[in-house]
Amino acid sequence: MIKAVLFDLDGVIVSTDRCHYRAWKRMADEEGIYFDEKINDRLRGVSRMASLEIVLERSPRAYTEEEKAALAARKNDYYKDLIRELTPADILPGAMENLNELKKNGILTAVGSSSKNTPLILRQIGLDAFFDAVSDGNNISHSKPDPEVFLKAAEMLGVEPADCLVVEDADAGIEAGRRGGIKTLSVKGAVGADYFAPDLSDYSIFRRIIR
Ligand code: BG6
Ligand code: MG
Repeated sequence: MIKAVLFDLDGVIVSTDRCHYRAWKRMADEEGIYFDEKINDRLRGVSRMASLEIVLERSPRAYTEEEKAALAARKNDYYKDLIRELTPADILPGAMENLNELKKNGILTAVGSSSKNTPLILRQIGLDAFFDAVSDGNNISHSKPDPEVFLKAAEMLGVEPADCLVVEDADAGIEAGRRGGIKTLSVKGAVGADYFAPDLSDYSIFRRIIR
C-alpha cells in the first residue's frame, strides 16, 4: 500500500531546466566550451559536480580540481540569479492540485532532489512549509542514480521504502527509486519505471496506483 509519495523537484514540481541550461551555457561560453540543449538533457537528475564533468567532456583543455570547483561555483552563482526570479506561478501545471489531493487522502509527501538549491527553490515557489519531509543535495553523499536521497526521505517520514512511490522526470531518478526498492512513476518520458504519465495534470494516475 502506498503511504507516501517522494517527488523529484526539478522537472516534476517546477521547471528549472531552462535556468540550468542558461547558467551552464554562460559558463561554457566564457570558457570556450561547446554546450547545447542535447548535452543539457544529460544533466537531468545528475549532481552539480557530475554535471560539470559532462560539460567538460567538450573542453579543449584539462582543469585542475580547484579550477573545477571554481567553475561549478560560478555556474551556481549564475543559476541562483535565475531561480531568484521563480514564483509560485512557475509550479508545473497540475502539480499543486495533485499535492493537495494526496494530502487530503492522508498520503504523506516528500521532496527527493539532487539539488543543493532545493531550500531556495521551495521558498521561491511558496512550498517551503508544504512537504512532510525534504531530502536534497545537502543531506546526501551519493547522488542519483544512487537511492540515498529517496531512502533518506522515506526514513524522515518513517515509512518503509516499499510503501512509497517515487515521481521522476530523469532516468537517473527512476533508477535511484528502483535500486531503493521503491515503486516509480515516470513523467516526461523517463525510462524504466513501473508507471508512466505524460505529466502531473491528472490525479487519476495516483488514484490508480494508490487505490
Ligand atoms: C537536479 C537537476 O535536480 O539537481 C540537475 O535535475 C542538477 O540538473 C542537480 O545538476 C544539482 O543541482 P544544484 O542546484 O545542486 O546545482
Ligand atoms: Mg528532475
